[in-house]
Amino acid sequence: MPEDINRRWTLAARPVGFPKPSDFRLDEQPIPEPGHGQVLVATKWMSLDPYMRGRMNEATAASYTPGVEIGQPMQGTVVGEVLQSNYDGLAVGDMVEAGLGWQEYGVIDGATVRKIDPEAAPISTALGVLGMPGLTAYFGLFEVGRPVAGDTVVVSAASGAVGAVVGQLAKNAGCRVIGIAGTQEKVDYVVDELGFDAGINYKTEDVSGRLTELCPDGVNVYWDNVGGEISDAVIEQIAVKGRAVVCGLISQYNADPPPQAPRIAARMLLTRQARMEGFLVFQFAHRYDEGRVRLARWVSDGSLKYRENVVEGFENAPAAFIGLQSGANFGKLLVKVG
Ligand SMILES: NC(=O)c1ccc[n+]([C@@H]2O[C@H](COP(=O)([O-])OP(=O)(O)OC[C@H]3O[C@@H](n4cnc5c(N)ncnc54)[C@H](OP(=O)(O)O)[C@@H]3O)[C@@H](O)[C@H]2O)c1
Repeated sequence: MPEDINRRWTLAARPVGFPKPSDFRLDEQPIPEPGHGQVLVATKWMSLDPYMRGRMNEATAASYTPGVEIGQPMQGTVVGEVLQSNYDGLAVGDMVEAGLGWQEYGVIDGATVRKIDPEAAPISTALGVLGMPGLTAYFGLFEVGRPVAGDTVVVSAASGAVGAVVGQLAKNAGCRVIGIAGTQEKVDYVVDELGFDAGINYKTEDVSGRLTELCPDGVNVYWDNVGGEISDAVIEQIAVKGRAVVCGLISQYNADPPPQAPRIAARMLLTRQARMEGFLVFQFAHRYDEGRVRLARWVSDGSLKYRENVVEGFENAPAAFIGLQSGANFGKLLVKVG
């Protein structure tokens, strides 16, 4: 093991508004020894996800899980290689998905990690299209959004890890799909490469006006990754019996103070007899295997494309994570470690 040192990114301070580099601290620890039933894992790929911003806060009544303690490693999922195993189900050399957090090495109970088949797909996909973001798209779309062929589906943060999968699955299910994204390159990507029917650049275009043109019969399913003004504009055009799937609120995660309750939404839900439903991917954990099998089949037959934004080097994780808060990433954001 190189130098027997484990580098970890820990939480140095709770951010006020947007996170900044001084909210993170790089520390060095000895590489830990696995105990009974545990494995030592060396991180190869580290996932950076919007939910991590919430974990940097003190938990509130609205939190679904406790936050990171100051001085503790940032939470998160990695793909890595088993270096030592005291767990019967895993051997040295196995590739696994594990909740190690932001660190180069970690010890974890073998029963909590998932073995990955490196022959089936690139191992990084276990953090993206075949991992939590892909599963979010699959279960959220089909179980909460419930699109039917012919529906108009609008997706915000459309080029990202979740949005790109949602749009393609909806398209493959026979829907008209419109993506909203923050650069022209991202808009062109979802239309030209992923096959969406149209795209809207929310930074340069009038979102309400474009939606009126593109969705003359209203929006049957709105996939909400962002909240805020974009979502107000879409929900204002929700169709009768439409469904707004609240997946994420990234435009609000750094808002200080936090925004108040939706006002446009309540009126539109009433008059259009529409439904707005939030969900957490974990509620479908008992069905993850089903989701992975389906997603993997679509990736292998070419009907589901994915894009990864790879940042090289463990030391660059905070800067990449800060960039994610304002759309610097283009595709699933990953750190390649080692
Ligand atoms: N409910 C669940 O279980 C669950 C699970 C996974 C993810 N999520 C949520 O799903 C959403 C997407 O996650 P992801 O992993 O796929 O991330 P992502 O889309 O790959 O990356 C985040 C994107 O959000 C957009 N964004 C950032 N700030 C914004 C703002 N102020 N207004 C509008 N858009 C903004 C940016 O794209 P643009 O350049 O297009 O602005 C950025 O690239 C997040 O809200 C996340 O929290 C929820």
